[in-house]
Amino acid sequence: MEKILVIGCAGQIGSELTLELRKMYGDANVVATDIKPADKEITEGGPFEILDVLDTHRLFGTVSRNKITQIYHLAAILSGNAEKKPLASWHINMESLLNVLELSRELNLNKVFWPSSIAVFGPTTPRVDTPQFTVMEPNTVYGISKLAGERWLEYYFQRYGVDGRSLRYPGLISHKTEAGGGTTDYAVEIFYDAIKEKKYNCFLGENTYLPMQFMDDAIKATIGVMEAPAEKITVRSSYNVAGISFSPKEIAKEIQKTIPDFSISYEPDFRQAIADSWPKSIDDSVAQRDWGLKNTFDLKRMTSLMLQEVGKKFN
Ligand code: NAD
Ligand code: SER
Repeated sequence: MEKILVIGCAGQIGSELTLELRKMYGDANVVATDIKPADKEITEGGPFEILDVLDTHRLFGTVSRNKITQIYHLAAILSGNAEKKPLASWHINMESLLNVLELSRELNLNKVFWPSSIAVFGPTTPRVDTPQFTVMEPNTVYGISKLAGERWLEYYFQRYGVDGRSLRYPGLISHKTEAGGGTTDYAVEIFYDAIKEKKYNCFLGENTYLPMQFMDDAIKATIGVMEAPAEKITVRSSYNVAGISFSPKEIAKEIQKTIPDFSISYEPDFRQAIADSWPKSIDDSVAQRDWGLKNTFDLKRMTSLMLQEVGKKFN
């Protein structure tokens, strides 16, 4: 029987992934942790602990005491917030991963999931249908930490046999928990403001294309890569994941089909330069071939569901 540790369970991904893992493995077999309190659904639905992943001693204690066999390590400082505190963010993003990898090696854990990001690419990367293997010269502290993390993941696999698996998530769109300080957050915020105010002031320019993915597809992809037989995993750094590519202008038009008087204005800030250094679209054919990655939400379906679910929060 697998026993799972989720680190960062209160975040945008953790708040949904933890519940899905509990459905699969049983509530008692998924220990949820975060440095801050999580939703009641998580804290009351199964084991929950406050844990700082940088506290190596406590992390080892939690893993040993609970006889953990797999870790999903989701704690990180995202792109926008990381630019405000570069060295502190580097420290959190890198030390946390090294703690988890070292512990996985010492305790011989079965598997580790750690997400990378489209932020590993940079201004010199081909921006359309970005291939799995290409030029990678990120110029944000977040991107540099994700690229270094990918190299460590592959190193721990090749040198010590640690079975780490990873996806380069695009911007994730969800309605359960708001986004945590990234450059793609506009594509979540826009739904809240559309419902509450019928207008949105976007921090990216109208024609800024970025790859995005609806959370349900991201969770399926995460579980897909983790459940795949080890021999199917040919990429030991991190897999490209494409999702859907659109611009702020296009998502606004889609929202206007349901809320005709919704309006959008544009006031690009420091995150514009980050977005301009990232791909517009991604080629994820290697993940499709290796373990069957599938995307099921397009812009229309995703927008309709987001408006419905965010709408429920304000009714
Ligand atoms: P988030 O900011 O919403 O959640 C991160 C969680 O980690 C938070 O609940 C936070 O409290 C927790 N955390 C922070 N420092 C911690 C520490 N020292 N110890 C324990 N917990 C700590 O982020 P998210 O969007 O859920 O992202 C999860 C992972 O996925 C990150 O690695 C992120 O880089 C990656 N990712 C996310 C996206 C996206 O669009 N959401 C895209 C690409 C990659
Ligand atoms: N959504 C993330 C960010 O914008 C991408 O990794 O930081």
